[in-house]
Amino acid sequence: MRTQVAIIGAGPAGMFLAHLLRRDGIDAVVIERRDRAYVEGRVRAGVLEQVTVDLMHRLGLAKRLVREGLVHGGTNLSLDGRLFRIDMAALTGGSTVTVYGQQEVMRDLFDAAEANDLPIVWNAVNVTLDGLDGDQPTVSWQADEAHQTLACDFVVGCDGYHGISRSAIPADVLKTFERVYPFGWLGILADVPPADHELIYANHERGFALASMRSATRSRYYIQCGVDENVADWSDDRFWDELCLRLGPETAAKVTRGPSFEKAIAPLRSFVSEPMRWGRLFLAGDAAHIVPPTGAKGMNLAVSDVTMLGEAFAEHYGERSDAGIDGYSARALARVWKAERFSWWFTSVTHRFPTMDGFDRRIQMAELDYIRGSEAAQRTLAENYVGLPMTAA
Ligand code: APR
Ligand code: PHB
Repeated sequence: MRTQVAIIGAGPAGMFLAHLLRRDGIDAVVIERRDRAYVEGRVRAGVLEQVTVDLMHRLGLAKRLVREGLVHGGTNLSLDGRLFRIDMAALTGGSTVTVYGQQEVMRDLFDAAEANDLPIVWNAVNVTLDGLDGDQPTVSWQADEAHQTLACDFVVGCDGYHGISRSAIPADVLKTFERVYPFGWLGILADVPPADHELIYANHERGFALASMRSATRSRYYIQCGVDENVADWSDDRFWDELCLRLGPETAAKVTRGPSFEKAIAPLRSFVSEPMRWGRLFLAGDAAHIVPPTGAKGMNLAVSDVTMLGEAFAEHYGERSDAGIDGYSARALARVWKAERFSWWFTSVTHRFPTMDGFDRRIQMAELDYIRGSEAAQRTLAENYVGLPMTAA
């Protein structure tokens, strides 16, 4: 078997890249460890930057997004129950975000992949990469008991934080940078109308809470919890009580309670590995970087990586120039680090840290109060939240 680009992993990074390459007439094969139902079933964030929405339009994937996506021109912060709104559209010259769950994005990507016969190998085990530092790399795996080998020009590791691609970069080349946060997010989904038509990020003395949604009839709520806590200790009643306390009485009055049908705890981490290219291997998405979910940058960052990579491959095959390929790592990392900074900062000002003393708490409150009163500070938040521009190569 032979292809031009082998893509490891069929998450958002791998699937957006597969569609981009197909649009540009470049052959690619996606090799995924799990099956479609598993990948599509994972509940993740659901706020799309304009960059992501635009890409779905360009790829002809936006039909359902246009119909079902909720366009948000603002977002809300709450400090000990006192709400204030950030008018993102007014502050950024009209930019918005669109609420559309990652599960919906994956369904659109997979449906279109099927319709267009994009080759995806499901349930591939023992995926191994060879020859990445030469000019004829190969990817091998086992599927249905048979051993398969794919020869290619380039390998793109889109296999997430726990994938194998990153570790193919020699230890003396790879540099990693990390912050692990001393708390997690307990998230639920429930078929009840959302408390507000926009999101509410709440800083409360008892910890962070977030009111989000998937549609006019489906709510997504999170509360900060201990990393070692057990989901089983959080009955729905306990969750709703704690959420309402943290959101404060004004918002709590608008919360509709109901049975949750999904409840899980996720850890929070900031992580970047450099470089994002080694020989004929490229990394994109969570394989190269993780952000804490505050600000919902994870999937959007994966999209900006593969947009840059798609341009680089189009240049390589179409214009016979390697400038894009050679510049990919530096270009992608410049945007990644800005999103890392924003996600870290937004986490820092909204969460309760176990080591916080009265001084830290007052600094945090002063910072949020400053944002409330300063258009300049609100604009800084808004332009990061809607997504920074993709700079030229
Ligand atoms: N071989 C093949 N596939 C693999 C391997 C492997 N060794 N290891 C992992 N995978 C697959 C996973 O099963 C998963 O489907 O790679 C895919 C990686 O997908 P994500 O973890 O979603 O990573 P990415 O596409 O970069 O997504 C970026 O979307 O899912 C969110 O939290 C994620 O916000 C982040 C964004
Ligand atoms: C979500 O709806 O899941 C969500 C929204 C905003 C975030 C994180 C998650 O910052």
